[in-house]
Amino acid sequence: MTRSLINLRDLSRDELLEVLALSELPIADLGAPMNGLGAALIFEKPSNRTRHSMEMAVVQLGGHPVYTRGEEIGFDTREPVEDVAAIMSGYHAIICARVFKHSVVERLAVAASVPVVNMLSDHSHPLQGLADVLTMRQELGELKGKTVAWVGDWNNVARSLAEASSLLGMSIRVGAPNGYQADPRELDDIQSLGASDINQFTSPEEAVAGADVVHTDVWTSMGQEAENAARLKAFAGYSVTEDLMKRAKAEALFMHCLPAHRGEEVAAEVVDGPASRVVKQGHNRMHSARGALAFLLGVKP
Ligand code: CP
Ligand code: NVA
Repeated sequence: MTRSLINLRDLSRDELLEVLALSELPIADLGAPMNGLGAALIFEKPSNRTRHSMEMAVVQLGGHPVYTRGEEIGFDTREPVEDVAAIMSGYHAIICARVFKHSVVERLAVAASVPVVNMLSDHSHPLQGLADVLTMRQELGELKGKTVAWVGDWNNVARSLAEASSLLGMSIRVGAPNGYQADPRELDDIQSLGASDINQFTSPEEAVAGADVVHTDVWTSMGQEAENAARLKAFAGYSVTEDLMKRAKAEALFMHCLPAHRGEEVAAEVVDGPASRVVKQGHNRMHSARGALAFLLGVKP
């Protein structure tokens, strides 16, 4: 099976470091590995950052991105996922998909003869996790021994951030209400990737204590809209406010994958304040996407 990027835990620590190194190389040094080649970008859900950063990353590597909405492709309705993978493998050097069901990207990766990239599923968001650790490393230097706190839903973004952070030897603290926490067995498994420590709390104050970075995301992810009212109730008290940030290290940074809901998971004063690195993090989506594509195409840093 060709190498794909479905979850960050599929990378070794050294491979993750390679992707990060490629992400920071000048574009000219990457040698246009997609010259004359296509990239399929299929979106079953809306996107700003992922679509634009991936389209630009493909262009920067010399390739041609082809954007298609999920409805036009119709995974398993218009035709089976496996037929899409087989046909697109003849047109493109890489197939990328943002999907509702994680099993769809897994099946694409099995059936395609070119690399497949998960551009967000209900399970994980590996391209986001890459930008997150790239940003933390640029801000904090060596990440081994540093602490990242996740406040909110244990979701796709949380999982990819935790996997990447663990591979880099960070300490991870999760703060989430009952019913929205990580399965402790999954946390054990993520810890086995290299984290110095992983702990989970119901108290957001305990979760952020001593953290170098506080990270959050929306309480209701795409596809969960029917649960919105219940989630607003469950997550009341989990907003990242200036008061909550005071429990972290004095110089702690705030991060968010965006889009952000000011007044819900984060206060405007925090996401728009001096500790926030969300714009740099968003811009790094393009640099890390370029690094990830170059890695999958066999470029060495
Ligand atoms: N963070 C992120 O994936 O943003 P988009 O949904 O806008 O792509
Ligand atoms: N957890 C969010 C991330 C959006 C980039 C979602 O899946 O909607």
